[in-house]
Amino acid sequence: MDVRIINRLCSFTAQRFGVPIDQVAVARAPYRICPLGAHIDHQSGTVTAMALDQAVHVAFAPSHCRDVVLNSLDFPGQTRFSIDHVPPPQRGDWGNYARGAVQALQQRHQLRSGVYGVTAGRMDGGGLSSSAAIGVALLLALQHANDLKVTPEENIDLDQTIENGYLGLRNGILDQAAILLSRRHQLTWIDCLTREHRHFPNPADGRGFEILIVFSGLKQALVETDYNQRVRECTAAAEKLLAAAGRSDAPPVLRSIPPEQYDACKHVLDDAEARRARHFFDEMERVRQGQQAWTAGDWQLFGQLMNQSGYSSIEHYQCGCPPLIDLYRILQDTPGVLGARFSGAGFRGCCVALVEPRTGQAAGEWVLDRYRRQHPDLAEAAYSLVCQTADGAEVIGKERLAGLFDVASDPAKNRPRNN
Ligand code: GLA
Repeated sequence: MDVRIINRLCSFTAQRFGVPIDQVAVARAPYRICPLGAHIDHQSGTVTAMALDQAVHVAFAPSHCRDVVLNSLDFPGQTRFSIDHVPPPQRGDWGNYARGAVQALQQRHQLRSGVYGVTAGRMDGGGLSSSAAIGVALLLALQHANDLKVTPEENIDLDQTIENGYLGLRNGILDQAAILLSRRHQLTWIDCLTREHRHFPNPADGRGFEILIVFSGLKQALVETDYNQRVRECTAAAEKLLAAAGRSDAPPVLRSIPPEQYDACKHVLDDAEARRARHFFDEMERVRQGQQAWTAGDWQLFGQLMNQSGYSSIEHYQCGCPPLIDLYRILQDTPGVLGARFSGAGFRGCCVALVEPRTGQAAGEWVLDRYRRQHPDLAEAAYSLVCQTADGAEVIGKERLAGLFDVASDPAKNRPRNN
């Protein structure tokens, strides 16, 4: 837990909005990775995920009126609106997530109060689900300020309403499900059709590998990429396969088609549809094998599956962009890397790699050295980070905050007990 940033956010919120510090709470929503199961959540596929020890934080207090007023430590300007008149989205504005969260929540719950708050989250470059993280953090803040009890499952739906409804991105539930359901040292498996999820403990108890994130330096919002176009191609493939199988009444997603029916009917697909469908069915199989490899502690196999998933994203799903594809290729040759792929959609942002223990730092430097030579224009913005896994999103209330600050301000309480 990043006590320094939490402390700073709380003090800033109290000062900025004139609220007593003991009324300030903090919503923490971690960034996520998806080692296997890329681009199949919107087709109701099965995915895997882990939350990282890097997060979006929102310090907040109830406004005790109808206003939501937010500042950010990372973005300029202030977001301010009344919960009675939620303005439409504005292109590229970080306030969209707050407006979307209020609108989504009000479709199901009554809000008495808005919030005053300050947000912070420095990894907004894409690939780690910063959008879902800020959306989830704001949902949790508004719920806490209004004494609403909402389950993680309902929050998955609410965040989907922000993304699909308010923002117009036709994505699935991978991001917010990973952010809400993950547990430290565990692989979270999510069935996006049934919404069932399971946790698989790391048999090496958190050891066995490190997680390396490498940012390409390229940033761009997903709604402006080919993301929605790819979703439409998957839908078209599903509709043709279902028609060929005489099952046009089934939901038009690729998960509606069993693998045997896909094999029997795939000749009806055009080239683009055939590639998208192939990615879906192969990726489903990789998720199945990956879960077994994880349970057996076979990190080599898990890594190979990630490499194959990355290859399929480029060749069959045809997402990605030249800098991310170069980064993926460099990672394939990097000493210590067990496996790597685009971390998110691949149209911008970062790659994620599983690396041998104690090699993350050196592997990151090795990759960046080569990448910067290939992309001098992005060299300054590119960086790498070795991460740990973490628990899913939560609100840190005043009692826990008091405990955290107490320990942070007293070095004696920070000392390991047996020394
Ligand atoms: C983005 C979307 C997710 C998912 C991934 C790719 O992060 O928001 O729903 O489709 O891309 O796996």
